[in-house]
Amino acid sequence: MERRYFSNDFDFEEYKNEIESSDLNQFWCSNDVETIKAENVNESHYWDVFYQKHKSGKFYKSRNYLLHEFKNYFSPLISSSETCTILECGAGHGATVYSLIDKLPLNIFFVATDYSEDALVSLKDNNAFDCSRIQTSTWDITRPLDIKLPYLPRIIICMFTMSAIHPMFHYDCLKNMANILKSGSVILFRDYGIFDFTMFKQKSKVCQNLYRRGDNTLSFYFTTEYFESIIEKLKDELQIVEISYCTILSTNRKTKETMKRIYLHSVIKKK
Ligand SMILES: C[S@@+](CC[C@H](N)C(=O)[O-])C[C@H]1O[C@@H](n2cnc3c(N)ncnc32)[C@H](O)[C@@H]1O
Repeated sequence: MERRYFSNDFDFEEYKNEIESSDLNQFWCSNDVETIKAENVNESHYWDVFYQKHKSGKFYKSRNYLLHEFKNYFSPLISSSETCTILECGAGHGATVYSLIDKLPLNIFFVATDYSEDALVSLKDNNAFDCSRIQTSTWDITRPLDIKLPYLPRIIICMFTMSAIHPMFHYDCLKNMANILKSGSVILFRDYGIFDFTMFKQKSKVCQNLYRRGDNTLSFYFTTEYFESIIEKLKDELQIVEISYCTILSTNRKTKETMKRIYLHSVIKKK
């Protein structure tokens, strides 16, 4: 049975209270931070190395839950005959595009972008890659998009990409996404939420809610308040339609360890 990644397996507020009164709170509040060099802050090199190492593309599981989770936004596109584009930011190996493409009608074109060239090489090196329906393009989302999209972008998908980017750029990322959308189009957002199981496994803290993994890639953990505060700065252009924590209880098959997974789910509309 497919895991319901859109579920609410436990109460976020209760779990937060539990964390705040436990030893884990020290971990979260620790001021023991490491400084990273400014030139390394938005470095694609570490992701290139990651994708060279994980060439198989099987590192991320497929995401069949997406059409269900964001049904209200995909359904109108699926039932329309309009030719349009779905654009993905930081598409990586293509876990999202390959979960969706065969379920979408032929009039929907997919533009998969990433700032890592190696990610896109890996994405294209897949039997399901169909160049008549999928275009790949490098795009550092901290900068304005400088390619022409084939059709009007109706949806931008941003999954587990902004967590890989230093918070000093988060406003720019969302601003750049807003700039390419027409009124009524949406950004579908999913990323690591504060207190996610993986947060407590991190060894190296860079600043509040931001950690550096052993391979030098970054991992930021979002709160609803933080995300809302960025959208507030873009309130002339963007409006939050949905925002919540998605909480999932998952068990590691090998170790039998129970993991509390927390994701920030959001849908943002261009005004
Ligand atoms: C954790 S991976 C997630 C990949 C994919 N979105 C997924 O969910 O499978 C983070 C991705 O963000 C990309 N990335 C990091 N910083 C970026 C930036 N400034 N612009 C575009 N992509 C970026 C990385 O190359 C990597 O592919």
